[in-house]
Amino acid sequence: MSLFEKAIRIKEILEKRIDYIPDAAIVLGSGLGAFSNEIQVDAEIDYKDIEGFPVSTVKGHAGKLIFGTAGGKKIAAMSGRFHLYEGYSPEEVTLPVRVFQLMGIPNYIVTNASGAVNTSYKPGDLMIIEDHIGFFCPSVLAGENDERLGIRFPSMSEVYSKELIHIAEKAAENIDIKVKKGIYCYCKGPMFETPAEIRAARILGADAVGMSTVPEVISAVHGNMRVLGISCITNMAAGILDQPLTHAEVMETGKMVEEKFSAFMKEIVSLL
Ligand code: HPA
Repeated sequence: MSLFEKAIRIKEILEKRIDYIPDAAIVLGSGLGAFSNEIQVDAEIDYKDIEGFPVSTVKGHAGKLIFGTAGGKKIAAMSGRFHLYEGYSPEEVTLPVRVFQLMGIPNYIVTNASGAVNTSYKPGDLMIIEDHIGFFCPSVLAGENDERLGIRFPSMSEVYSKELIHIAEKAAENIDIKVKKGIYCYCKGPMFETPAEIRAARILGADAVGMSTVPEVISAVHGNMRVLGISCITNMAAGILDQPLTHAEVMETGKMVEEKFSAFMKEIVSLL
């Protein structure tokens, strides 16, 4: 079965549970699932109960798709995402995006945990993604193009919608929090980067580094969705501090910023 056909099947399953088109699909990154408590739930579905959907294997990723209201808007929230480092194929990693695209959801909002490459950042900072460096990401669009999903050579000149970036900046102002705006560099993982890789990423212009987001947003742009990306800086990237990195540290910082992050997301959604 083609990716298009798989996505259509899942869309049909999900549309039996809700009778509206959400304003946004929101993907909650590692340790950032707490935002799901802000949602007045219409339907909550375990990934394992959606035939054909992959199942998340990472600690801190719940594996639930939630439909409901937050900030006065209808949303679909994924608590738990799929990464290439888990061994999923590009098609599996991007299947949820294609489902949202085919449901007619106009906005794709991704969040992630990431390491600070920019030494002026600190753990707990939130960064609006202005653009990304995806050289290290295998193409999720390689292979025969399915015109029903998008064109062969999509432009990546504005992956992150300027309009949505403006909304996110306004949201930060409204709730009186300071946020950064910077460049996200994808590294496949699951190992953290080496200090030399982080120095290289810095020379290339990266402010943050992480193991997700880029595969998904490329598909979302291919599928004509508007994209917004928010990174939660959970740690200084490798080699900046004289200490090894751990997933526990990533999760702890996620927990620390839970409240600020949830308030920010809610305000962003309300302004859509
Ligand atoms: N590197 C890659 N991915 C990450 C990091 C990091 O330092 N922190 C959280 N996700």
